[in-house]
Amino acid sequence: MFAQSSLSGSKSEQYAQLAGQVRALVAGEHDRIANAANIAALVYHALPQLNWVGFYFFDGHELVVGPFQGQPACVRIPLDRGVCGAAARTGATQRVDDVHAVADHIACDPASRSELVVPLHGAEGALLGVFDLDSPVSARFDVEDQAGLEAIARAFVESLQ
Ligand code: SME
Repeated sequence: MFAQSSLSGSKSEQYAQLAGQVRALVAGEHDRIANAANIAALVYHALPQLNWVGFYFFDGHELVVGPFQGQPACVRIPLDRGVCGAAARTGATQRVDDVHAVADHIACDPASRSELVVPLHGAEGALLGVFDLDSPVSARFDVEDQAGLEAIARAFVESLQ
């Protein structure tokens, strides 16, 4: 049984602790669904002010919703749509302070105000999907959150190998 301990110290120290918890949680397990499910649950409960945390997986054509915590979500997202599609298409993390200012934003949960989407790439650079976090608070994610959540996304990808 994995015991989650609370985070302490500076924000970067808290993200280092959370990344350690992620690595412990997936240690020895390579199943994509199992690790995505546990990481989504861990992050959703560890960090404040989130209303959706989860994964979309690339099926070779579009993004398909995977394990998550939060309200039921859009099932399929074409790569040319939304913040998730932009992350997958460009290979760059998308950090959006106000999703209402993004014409292309797909509103799965009307409560969402800000969003961070990290693209996931396998060892050979192939697109695996995206790690998506939504918040009901505007500008919830800063550069430190981005760095911390990119490290967690890397730990997920590494767990699959
Ligand atoms: N808002 C995302 C869609 C996914 S949900 O928020 C879970 C987007 O615009 O891509």
